[in-house]
Amino acid sequence: MKVICARCGSEEPLQTRKWRCDCGRPYLLEGVPAFRRAAIRPNERSLWRYRDLLPPFEGDPVTMGEGGTPLLIEEWDGLRLGFKLEFMSPSGSFKDRGASLLVSFLRSRGIDDVLDDSSGNAGAALAAYGARGGLHVRIFAPAYTPAAKLVQISSYGAEMIPVQGPRPKATEAALQAVAGGAYYATHNYSPFFVEGVATLAYEVLEQLNWEPPDNLVFPMGNGSLVASSYLALTRMQAAGMLDRLPRFFVVQSRACAPVLQAWQNGWEDVRETTPGKTVADGITIGHPAWGWYALEAVRESGGAVLAVDDGDVLAARDRLARRGLYVEPTSAVPLAALSQLRERIAPSELTVLPLTGHGLKSH
Ligand SMILES: Cc1ncc(COP(=O)(O)O)c(C=O)c1O
Ligand SMILES: [Zn+2]
Repeated sequence: MKVICARCGSEEPLQTRKWRCDCGRPYLLEGVPAFRRAAIRPNERSLWRYRDLLPPFEGDPVTMGEGGTPLLIEEWDGLRLGFKLEFMSPSGSFKDRGASLLVSFLRSRGIDDVLDDSSGNAGAALAAYGARGGLHVRIFAPAYTPAAKLVQISSYGAEMIPVQGPRPKATEAALQAVAGGAYYATHNYSPFFVEGVATLAYEVLEQLNWEPPDNLVFPMGNGSLVASSYLALTRMQAAGMLDRLPRFFVVQSRACAPVLQAWQNGWEDVRETTPGKTVADGITIGHPAWGWYALEAVRESGGAVLAVDDGDVLAARDRLARRGLYVEPTSAVPLAALSQLRERIAPSELTVLPLTGHGLKSH
């Protein structure tokens, strides 16, 4: 196996310490098995039922039974919505899928001291799986990160370093440590993280008896969730399992919407923006790692990029809670776009929204 730049095609051996291509974009893995239904392990309920479709590594996975989250299909405002309850993951967010595979790979390589920068959930996931796999984990998090997430990270035994200032300051601090020789287990760029998160889309298709939904609606910060879903669905399409892609709707906070700006201007890639303040703390990313790739997913699938205000986000969060679904504000961002989506979606269509993070982490 090797890594290959998702944008320019430049290659490196798998054991490279380079965490991104010289062109600034993330690598993907070459040599991942092609999607085949026959390769699914039917007796395994976690995401490890897809182990033979994941990049191979030596030894046992570092796992807590992540994946296998419910898909609730319900009527909301005359539309058919499918909520994928990712907040039920061991550390409380979809990031556990990526962390489980990434930590499994790192451990198999004997890499036991790693760091990452995170707005909270990825840091918590890495800290949790690091604890489970015996890795020392250091997380650089913006000091404004909700307290519950910071406490969660240090409770797992990770070294938690709060960084004053906006989100990029945490990345800068992490990169300084990387320049000093530390291993950068970056969830935003690691191809292993993306492959782990790709199981979310495999699972949705399986839960729908391989009948693809019409639409997918995502919150987007760096775009690892959008990118991994696009990767998974194009793979299933290449395997002849889908005749068309579900439409990708990418939703951002109006306070930080570089993807919307690029979409509205017809740009192929995003340009860095300065994030404003928003309750959607998980997606305040001014320069997303997967920006051009998300734009491609939207374009190729016939979807759109939308933005929502904090008021709509909090109202959507409360509506979900009144139906028993307690998620953090960032995770209510897709539902907050429902009124804008209504004009684009027919009542007969099925629209799937991942509910990405638990309400106990941030409110
Ligand atoms: C709860 C939640 N939802 C969605 C996202 C967005 O994920 P991505 O940065 O991969 O776009 C994040 C990222 O931190 C998150 O914490
Ligand atoms: Zn490149």
